Amino acid sequence: MSTTFILNGQSTTLDADPNMPMLWAIREVAGLHGTKFGCGMAQCGACTIHLDGQPLRSCITPLSAVSGRKVTTIEGLQGKPAKAVQAAWVKLQVPQCGYCQSGQIMSAAALLTENPKPTDADIDAAMSGNICRCATYTRIRAAIHDAAHSMEA
Ligand code: FES
Ligand code: FES
Repeated sequence: MSTTFILNGQSTTLDADPNMPMLWAIREVAGLHGTKFGCGMAQCGACTIHLDGQPLRSCITPLSAVSGRKVTTIEGLQGKPAKAVQAAWVKLQVPQCGYCQSGQIMSAAALLTENPKPTDADIDAAMSGNICRCATYTRIRAAIHDAAHSMEA
């Protein structure tokens, strides 16, 4: 069975079980490996993608749920907030091992799209579902503030 949706701006049809988690559809069928597997239980955020602009845990979302909708992965992330986040991540050298970081960036970009001037509490609330085993949380928070400031310029 096939499912058609917009993947990173392009109409895409994947021939796969509609019950397949999006994480595996993206990685194994579409061949985009930037979205990571961490827990498979919506507990870590490593698999975060955007569905119609909202952050979503792809490990617990079936392929059938995205039919006709707009999916964005780290490979297709675009727009002012996304560019500001990516630049701040580089500037502040946020990643350590890097494994969690595509999920962190997807959540941060979604936050700044909704809320261009987040407080520390806003950041903590939006990012609390993204776990980093390397504990880069302080740099993540600083980078989100840096990205927010750069968007004002
Ligand atoms: S792999 Fe999806 S939340 Fe952990
Ligand atoms: S940078 Fe290593 S898990 Fe986050």
